[in-house]
Amino acid sequence: MSVSIPVRSLVREIPDAALCAQRIEAARAALGKRLIILGHHYQRDEVFRHADVSGDSLKLSQVAANSQAEFIVFCGVHFMAEVADILSRPEQQAILPDLAAGCSMADMANLAKVERAWRELDDVLDAEQSITPVTYINSAADLKAFCGRHGGIVCTSSNARRVLDWAYSAREKVLFFPDQHLGRNTGKAMGIRLDEMVVWDFDLPLGGLTREQIRAARLILWKGFCSVHQMFRAEHIHAYRQRHPGVQVIAHPEASYEVCQLADAVGSTEYIINTIAASPAGSHWLVGTELNLVKRLHERHRDEQKIVQFMSPTISMCSTMFRTNPHSLLAVLEGLLEGRSENVIRVPLSESHLARAALERMLALS
Ligand code: 13P
Ligand code: SF4
Repeated sequence: MSVSIPVRSLVREIPDAALCAQRIEAARAALGKRLIILGHHYQRDEVFRHADVSGDSLKLSQVAANSQAEFIVFCGVHFMAEVADILSRPEQQAILPDLAAGCSMADMANLAKVERAWRELDDVLDAEQSITPVTYINSAADLKAFCGRHGGIVCTSSNARRVLDWAYSAREKVLFFPDQHLGRNTGKAMGIRLDEMVVWDFDLPLGGLTREQIRAARLILWKGFCSVHQMFRAEHIHAYRQRHPGVQVIAHPEASYEVCQLADAVGSTEYIINTIAASPAGSHWLVGTELNLVKRLHERHRDEQKIVQFMSPTISMCSTMFRTNPHSLLAVLEGLLEGRSENVIRVPLSESHLARAALERMLALS
């Protein structure tokens, strides 16, 4: 005998935008100090406005590490919630409102490929003695654990230079993953020549390099990139500067070498925000980072007659940051009120203590 269930009882009722925002605020108020909501700058406004603290990856990881809240709801992407879990106490819960909010760049490196690269490098030179592995925070927890195990460290876009200085004080070479651009831009700013950097193609034996190239390299860059920041091109800057000679260009270091070389300033999302905020009224900026942030800056500074213009002529948004919406945020908050913890991110203990070691080395430098 078949039982028919009314469809209405299977689907969650979807409140309209205003009601949804009200219910999020009511849930926040009811949870009080038990809850902290962290919002990365790339979140859409409808979510971002509910964050207790907003920031770049470094700032949010520091806040997560020091928070006393029982529930750390991370409006960001998966690796950020993993970091919050690793750095918080076991009785705290890191929650990601939408589990599909990943990072395509982070997915470009995985443990099997990095371990293979390490074995192959070890075949050419003593990897443990001569290479410090450095992972961008945009990576899975097991890669942070790999760095913890091999005397390596984590970096973010705002401390990459300091971290690389530390890495070179320990060993002569660095294996940097997964973002080749952050690695190259930082290495260049430190005075490492482009011919001392090589790109490790993880799909090819020996990274597609010769043994001589590996021995001569100082910086070995994983062939990863951000699908959003690769959209910004040198020709966009040239064309815009021709039309607006007074413009200042600012870019995130995940943008290409050519873009960062042409930019007047390069830095993390928090750096971009602070730089534009500190500029005089009437300043004109061309910005190479994610669209939601650039739109917010455009709105925020409109009254001061600052012009904040997005660098690419085509839309380039982070679709995974965009996964988190007010409804997914509301669902996890109301779940908590009803005693249900949903979408909790738990890094296995076997990985988390080594990943924590690599993160704490970074935090000690910051
Ligand atoms: P920030 O740490 O500069 O906020 O960057 C995070 C990120 O994912 C940029 O794409
Ligand atoms: Fe990952 Fe790029 Fe999105 Fe940042 S903007 S979260 S690096 S895909």
